[in-house]
Amino acid sequence: MIQATVSLVAAVARNGVIGVDNRLAWRLPTDLRRFRDLTMGKPLVMGRKTFESIGRLLPGRETIIITRRAEYLVAGAHVARDVETGLALADRLAMSGQNEIIVAGGAEIYAQTIDRADRLLITEVDLAPPGDALFPPIDPAIWREIRRERPPRGERDEPEIEFVDYARRDPRGSAPTGA
Ligand SMILES: NC(=O)c1ccc[n+]([C@@H]2O[C@H](COP(=O)([O-])OP(=O)(O)OC[C@H]3O[C@@H](n4cnc5c(N)ncnc54)[C@H](OP(=O)(O)O)[C@@H]3O)[C@@H](O)[C@H]2O)c1
Repeated sequence: MIQATVSLVAAVARNGVIGVDNRLAWRLPTDLRRFRDLTMGKPLVMGRKTFESIGRLLPGRETIIITRRAEYLVAGAHVARDVETGLALADRLAMSGQNEIIVAGGAEIYAQTIDRADRLLITEVDLAPPGDALFPPIDPAIWREIRRERPPRGERDEPEIEFVDYARRDPRGSAPTGA
């Protein structure tokens, strides 16, 4: 069982789009800074396509790349052949740090981890662009909005954004009620 807090961090457009053609669909330096601040010192779990889209290792963070490709190796990163193994490795790495695992996407990996997550740290992007990668639906019966903040718009930011944090209503590991 995962001990660390599992946080999904994503920038999501009004129509659920998170990316197109294996890249982001907007330019948002303010959000990239927030991503850096939220993730520094914490293990990042990401799909192989997201890793290749970023194109490099992010400093100050251990990266765990999920891929089915047996031969896939990246110097300086960890590679896991399934999501479960990746999360377990991230959990071990998180133990010696801030006890939080960051799931950094993309669509396939968010979809397979949202049921395991404790927190969703979402940047709402005020656009509805065409795209081929989507964030899974955030079910209000499961997720409670606990914080919303509109940062000042950076001069190089294309759309307006809001930072929205969600917590799971029924925390993982809590006893069933009414028993
Ligand atoms: N807006 C945001 O916050 C944000 C964040 C991250 C990414 N993105 C965007 O999302 C898009 C990429 O998302 P995506 O869904 O196409 O790709 P992805 O989730 O990044 O990676 C998919 C790959 O992960 C591996 N994988 C997935 N499930 C697996 C499993 N159960 N076991 C083993 N390997 C598994 C496979 O790699 P192999 O094919 O190598 O086997 C698969 O092709 C890009 O457009 C990117 O820019 C946006």
